Amino acid sequence: MTREQWLQRRSEDPYWRMAKEMGLPSRAAFKLEEVQRRWRVIPEGGRVLDLGAAPGGMTAVASDVVGEKGLVVAVDVEPLKLQRPNVVFIQADVMEHRLVRELQRIVKDGLFDTVVSDLSPHHSGDYDLLILQHADLLSRSREIAYMFLKRRGNMVLKAFEHPALRQFEQETARSFLKFERYIPKSTKKGSSEVFLIFLGFKPKPSERDSGGRLSSHPLGLRV
Ligand SMILES: C[S@@+](CC[C@H](N)C(=O)[O-])C[C@H]1O[C@@H](n2cnc3c(N)ncnc32)[C@H](O)[C@@H]1O
Repeated sequence: MTREQWLQRRSEDPYWRMAKEMGLPSRAAFKLEEVQRRWRVIPEGGRVLDLGAAPGGMTAVASDVVGEKGLVVAVDVEPLKLQRPNVVFIQADVMEHRLVRELQRIVKDGLFDTVVSDLSPHHSGDYDLLILQHADLLSRSREIAYMFLKRRGNMVLKAFEHPALRQFEQETARSFLKFERYIPKSTKKGSSEVFLIFLGFKPKPSERDSGGRLSSHPLGLRV
């Protein structure tokens, strides 16, 4: 597809047009809005950790839901195109240990009500490579969520369909009260993306501690 064809296709996309008209940084906003409408994954006044946040469509939705008493911590390697009083942006690679320290500093003794991950590697057109790279991002999102999610908190992960995904889902679902899969109406036709909705976190000591200590939170936080 040439750049002209891509631009033409984009301008015909109703969600892209709606995002532009509403001043939202991206059409991804509508995906989180749909998830929120169905499952109320984000509580008013709550704290949200938004991984893979740039340019900020989902961050805008989360910021609206939590309101002025809430907080959204957005993380991305790319800059966020959104500035709100209730949004803190950390420009970092999610794989960096520095991110864990930054989050620890921000949340202090509190944790997040919701972790959202819309992380995607750059898609070169090689689907197998995309799946491999994305598997690392999914595992890292889950690892970060297990460190920072409140008991009974919710986690929303964007994934791409692949046979190995089912095992990840089953394994992860054991740590939550409820699990659902959802393809938003705003997902582009032909895309293999699926949102994994995990509701009601049941932290196990082993999941809290990557260093093998079972009795305490690795960051000394209380859940
Ligand atoms: C689909 S876009 C996110 C769209 C965004 N959620 C929104 O609502 O506008 C995926 C994002 O993942 C980010 N990303 C990919 N790998 C990353 C990594 N290792 N660390 C941090 N961000 C990463 C990309 O920079 C990109 O902004």
